[in-house]
Amino acid sequence: MVRGSQEPLRSATMTPEEFRTAGHALVDWIADQRAAVESRPVRAQVEPGEVRRSFPQAPPETGDQPVGHRGDISHLLSDLDQLVLPGMTHVQHPMNFGWFPANASLASVLGDLASGGLGGLGISWESCPALTEVEEVVCDWMRQLVGLADHWHGTITDTASTGTLTALLVGRERATGLSQNRRGLVGESEPLMVYTTSQAHSSVAKAALLAGFGYEAVREVPVDPTTFAMDTSALADMLAADVESGMAPAAVVASVGTTGVTAIDPIAEIVDAVNDLHETTGIRPWIHVDAALAGSAMLLEDYRHLWAGIDDVDSLCWNPHKWMGTILDTSLLYYRDPRFAQQVLSTNPSYLAAAGSENQATQYRDWGLALGRRFRALKLWFHLRIDGIDTIRERLRADLASTRWLEAEISATPGWEVVAPVPLQTIAVRFTPPDAIERRVDIDAHTRAWIEAINRSGDAFLSPTTLPDGRWVARVSIGAETATRHHVERMWELMQQAAAVPDPNALPPAI
Ligand SMILES: Cc1ncc(COP(=O)(O)O)c(C=O)c1O
Repeated sequence: MVRGSQEPLRSATMTPEEFRTAGHALVDWIADQRAAVESRPVRAQVEPGEVRRSFPQAPPETGDQPVGHRGDISHLLSDLDQLVLPGMTHVQHPMNFGWFPANASLASVLGDLASGGLGGLGISWESCPALTEVEEVVCDWMRQLVGLADHWHGTITDTASTGTLTALLVGRERATGLSQNRRGLVGESEPLMVYTTSQAHSSVAKAALLAGFGYEAVREVPVDPTTFAMDTSALADMLAADVESGMAPAAVVASVGTTGVTAIDPIAEIVDAVNDLHETTGIRPWIHVDAALAGSAMLLEDYRHLWAGIDDVDSLCWNPHKWMGTILDTSLLYYRDPRFAQQVLSTNPSYLAAAGSENQATQYRDWGLALGRRFRALKLWFHLRIDGIDTIRERLRADLASTRWLEAEISATPGWEVVAPVPLQTIAVRFTPPDAIERRVDIDAHTRAWIEAINRSGDAFLSPTTLPDGRWVARVSIGAETATRHHVERMWELMQQAAAVPDPNALPPAI
């Protein structure tokens, strides 16, 4: 704002010097938190609403400190300690065996800080050429690191949910010969169908819904009763029967490493089923692979047989923010041929019009949903540069060895059962007390109770899931970045102690 001939008013927001002071204090605080994480309860010890109520109802009218003193963030750090920390479930805790290893390696935290600090704007190549080109580089490095063929081209999205939605949108357009240029799905005469299993992540059904398919168009392909992987002869039959009855198979979403029990759908057989359909009917549904967690295992050459056939599918997503340990949100979406995706997703508003040579550049907004994109590639770059892929691979191998150890212990212990194959780092288990029949123990209720007893104690954390037959089981998901064999052994002790109590709900909280 200019008033008459006076100088423009200087912004009263934080200056770089104040940022330096505050930033050092914050980095110290983060380092202290990470160093102390093991001394905290794993699961947040708060009731719903507790964190919200501890905050003022009205927003602050002014900053904490007067202009010129913005570098002093001591009040804010103290509030982080008092108000926020109690509401954290510490997924970086080495005794966290829940959901999936949501590792946030400190090296990638620095990359995130660099990304935010640079404040780049990713809406076109021109708006930040480095953002686009570093993303191209790291996506290609990651492609090489998991042994994908060089026809794959990737982009970084926030989550696998977004990747799967994007793939289904593009697949829908291939199936309809670009219905978007006509009346969209409304104008289609044949109902479009999507095929997946009951074990696929809920984001698959959600993506199908958002891509306009409707839940009724999501076909649940049966799974093998012991491996919980897609039954591909059933898939072939369903595809043929649906075409016969006038429907249009548009996409197959396969999972390499399902959320519940890390079941591995056989990709090469799915490709064969789709190729057969193509040969006999001319219809070629899009194949998308969700390898959200299991993609990290493919960094190890001897695990790549688990996704044999991958180079022949149309798209795949994988989250380095799971297990590998690049901080959220770092999800990779690869296309076998990104040109078709660009045709579907391209936007070219006049305010982003590119001139001359820029037309040759990658415009990542045409590869996905978002226009404004963060410089996420820095997180991966920092992670690979600072920690190194050799160290990351070594840790994955240690996690897999601990998993083998625990699987053997569980299998050899009376009453305990490993209920699904263990191809990766997740073990699904169930315990039947020796007197279960006399006491008429409801094993499902007992399973949920002993899991809850461990979680409530704060000593460790694990999560439940159900099998296709409805049985409740516990999942032990190994791979927190700081977890060692010692922590896995301790987890096994806690599981045995909690499950041996007739009514684990009666266990007093340990903390
Ligand atoms: C197999 C699988 N796919 C997709 C997702 C969803 O991932 P995101 O949170 O990145 O959307 C998960 C999350 O656990 C998962 O396990």
